[in-house]
Amino acid sequence: MDMKPGLEGVAAAETKISLVDGERGRLIYRGHRAEDLARTRSPEEVAFLLWNGTLPDPDEREAVRRQWAGARVLPGYLKGLIAAIPREVQMTDVLRTAVSAMGDASFEGPPTPEQAIRIAALLPSIIAFRRHHLAGTEPPAPRPDLSHVAHYLYLLRGEVPSPAHVRALEAYFVLTAEHGMNASTFAARVVTSTRSDLISAVVAAIGALKGPLHGGAPAGVESMLDEIGTEERIKPWIRERLERNERLMGFGHRIYRTEDPRAAALREIAVRLAAGEPWLSLAVRVEEEALRLLEEYKPGRRIRTNVEYYAAALFRAVGLPRELFTPTFICSRIVGWAAHAMEQAEHNRLIRPDAVYIGPLPD
Ligand code: CMC
Repeated sequence: MDMKPGLEGVAAAETKISLVDGERGRLIYRGHRAEDLARTRSPEEVAFLLWNGTLPDPDEREAVRRQWAGARVLPGYLKGLIAAIPREVQMTDVLRTAVSAMGDASFEGPPTPEQAIRIAALLPSIIAFRRHHLAGTEPPAPRPDLSHVAHYLYLLRGEVPSPAHVRALEAYFVLTAEHGMNASTFAARVVTSTRSDLISAVVAAIGALKGPLHGGAPAGVESMLDEIGTEERIKPWIRERLERNERLMGFGHRIYRTEDPRAAALREIAVRLAAGEPWLSLAVRVEEEALRLLEEYKPGRRIRTNVEYYAAALFRAVGLPRELFTPTFICSRIVGWAAHAMEQAEHNRLIRPDAVYIGPLPD
């Protein structure tokens, strides 16, 4: 039997949702370049596109806006649950637990866009409630007039964010909404293939995304930059890591063999937002040196900057604390998980691979 560790190069489904073209550095959502959508469309519109196949017309746009805004009020039982979780539990785990607790009978049956909005719209409210609860402060009153991302920043800060910060984070949400058969999306599809519900698929996906090889990387990027600290330390720090065959966070990708188009788009936004900040200059210098040294230590592997590197810079520029980096990725990627869950349910075949037994046999 043919065995592919990590299922590398194995196609597990046909999809109309996105094309991740690792050779040409293209990311296409239902026929549209993700970078173009990030410049011109809101995350709510892109969610509509990924779930329904077309961009919303003006009437649909207004309906979508109202649906998202109407689903962001946290029910009392969830507040009680979140408040009861011990303070040392990480935000990613709080999200996983809170989403799990939403799983009532209304989520039974095949996944739908309405169910997806109910989960996606609530995630920022869960994060903000948890932060305020730990700080002993009250989240501000919901503002149905604000967009999904503007409302997220508003809940965290208690004041309406600047348009520049909203646009930057909206671009991030669009660029990271969907990315083919990545580990968390695959987890969501596996769960859906058993005819389980969307809540269970999202809980599994959050569990897969939180690992440092997937959505846990941007916090690692910021720690790396903090540890390096100054320009003089860049080269020795990176060399030391590569000598020990350690990984540099924010570099490398299973699919991209050229620049990840999301990294390029996020770099442009971060550089615009944080121009002149010493930490941004350091990030740019570390990237240059890391790419040079990766070429020296890993010749021919074509390791490039991935989306997480400049996601970390963008988050910092809009004032998101490190502990919210991965939770914010969950807020954006839930759109892709739901799209794949819907597609899987529509053309379902139980996902059930095989394993090659290499253990002993009885005599
Ligand atoms: N730093 C140093 N060496 C690396 C790195 C890196 N970031 N990434 C890959 N390599 C090396 C690896 O050591 C191996 O070398 P060798 O052939 O000598 O053993 C070679 O490149 C191939 O690595 P691989 O493990 O076969 O590649 P993969 O496809 O399994 O890895 C990856 C993909 C993302 C897990 C890996 O590049 C990595 O660990 N990167 C750092 C963590 C990170 O930034 N993760 C975010 C990924 S992008 C977000 C997402 O889509 O979720």
